[in-house]
Amino acid sequence: MSDRPTTTNDSGNPAPSDEHSQSVGPNGPLLMQDHYLIQKMAHFNRERVPERVVHAKGGGAYGVLEITEDVGQFTKAKLFQKGARTESIVRFSTVAGELGSADTARDPRGFAIKFYTEDGNYDLVGNNTPVFFIRDPQKFSDFIHSQKRRADTNLHDHNMQWDFWTLSPESAHQVSLLMTDRGTPYSWRHMNGHGSHTFLWYNAAGERFWVKYHFKTDQGIKNYTADEAAALQAVDPDAHLRDLHEAIRKGDHPSWTVQVQVMPFEDAADYRFNPFDLTKVWPHGDYPPITIGRWTLVRNPENHFAEIEQAAFEPSNFVPGIGASPDKMLQGRLFSYPDAHRYRVGANYLQLPVNRPKSPVHSYNKDGAMAYANSGDPVYAPNSAGGPAADPALWEGEGYGVAGEIIRSAYTLHAEDDDHGQPRTLWEKVLSGTDRDHMVSNIVGHASAPEVTADMRRRVVEYWRNVHKDLGDRVATGLGINGT
Ligand code: NDP
Ligand code: HEM
Repeated sequence: MSDRPTTTNDSGNPAPSDEHSQSVGPNGPLLMQDHYLIQKMAHFNRERVPERVVHAKGGGAYGVLEITEDVGQFTKAKLFQKGARTESIVRFSTVAGELGSADTARDPRGFAIKFYTEDGNYDLVGNNTPVFFIRDPQKFSDFIHSQKRRADTNLHDHNMQWDFWTLSPESAHQVSLLMTDRGTPYSWRHMNGHGSHTFLWYNAAGERFWVKYHFKTDQGIKNYTADEAAALQAVDPDAHLRDLHEAIRKGDHPSWTVQVQVMPFEDAADYRFNPFDLTKVWPHGDYPPITIGRWTLVRNPENHFAEIEQAAFEPSNFVPGIGASPDKMLQGRLFSYPDAHRYRVGANYLQLPVNRPKSPVHSYNKDGAMAYANSGDPVYAPNSAGGPAADPALWEGEGYGVAGEIIRSAYTLHAEDDDHGQPRTLWEKVLSGTDRDHMVSNIVGHASAPEVTADMRRRVVEYWRNVHKDLGDRVATGLGINGT
């Protein structure tokens, strides 16, 4: 007798064969009564859920956040109190490619973390860049369409990408970062993560602050050049997934130093930049980063589909002590993610083990497809049956006054809200000579794709001259259109 378990169908009934269908004689037709065969074939046809509309290709791991500094004066969030230790899961990803696309494509990298706190899940759904291409969610689907495939040929199209970017000058900061070698990281372990948006923190006394999160890699920043990334795409499209899995399997646990920038609530009104504009950073000279702890990846998932493909991150998951800011992009995202999960995974996606909080759930939502963990009676509030009751005191401090006309406009109240100042600082003050050389050649390589028209190349040069004349001139030389 073998000590291997007996194959069963999904109802647990022992299977009579792993190889042979039930047939009428050796060459006869198959039988409807072979429900083992039918279940196997029918389930196979249903293996796929829709891939994420963006960030489809990714991988992840479980981690632990440890807070080493006291930031209780800024937030009462339990996960950020000194000594707190919180389990988490991360999913890293590329943005524009499909489920099987190459990890080393030039793209921002998603850096989405779900913290399983004692007050429910807190999700920080960020990127490896501190800024983004646009500042209004109205433009998000248009932006993504321009980065994915054409409607007619189904091909990626650099002309379409540059068309959107050059008509959207607010993209200049993010496109600058994308065109440095940070657009092709060596691995997910060797890049920083940023919450990118500004968030609200409030403490136990109800005092409010604005905050930005930064996760600085302890492995050091390491990138591929464009040529190295292209070469690796051909031989190992899953290089980043493999790298992370192998490192953790070998016990080489990657970690990140967690930092925050904290702005007093009142500073926002007349700060030199709009502090809620996602195309801007807060310069460190204005708001120095404060180290608050370390986040370490400790464990690989055991089942990629169950734990990573079905993981549902949502910027709307907040805990007491943390809230949204008026950043328009964040406001749009608060709607978008839970809506995507209900479509992609199903109405009860929060009951799956990877998404379900580790703290008790006492909601009054009930039923729906695949429900198995709903709370019991009573099923309504208010009730006199001793059911759960909300605690408004937990949210004291989250509210603040706003007033104004209803408008549709991009006007700004801040002195330095242009689109080019911060990317210009990056070019002038932060990038090394080699970084600049690579940025120029990466732009030139990208805009030299055969589908990019001569007129578009001139617009590309203007786009970069607006960031810095030297940069634009060098791109013009590289594209062979000097003198225009
Ligand atoms: P600082 O000199 O204090 O900081 C510069 C920042 O740039 C650091 O966070 C550094 O950290 C990061 N950096 C270094 N090399 C590169 C590179 N090749 N590509 C992208 N980022 C790099 O200056 P400021 O805070 O005044 O910011 C100046 C400019 O730096 C900004 O306009 C922005 O473009 C860029 N930047 C700023 C960040 C911020 O939050 N203030 C964050 C990231 C970039 P590290 O190498 O660890 O990432
Ligand atoms: C994924 C929408 C901006 C980071 C997604 C998904 C949607 C979406 C629908 C797929 C979700 C899923 O099916 O699981 C939007 C909208 C945006 C926006 C509407 C702007 C209005 C941003 C920004 C960032 C970001 C600014 C980073 C700062 C991510 C990440 C993922 C993602 C990391 C993948 C999460 C995962 O690994 O499951 N986005 N997005 N997005 N987005 Fe956004």
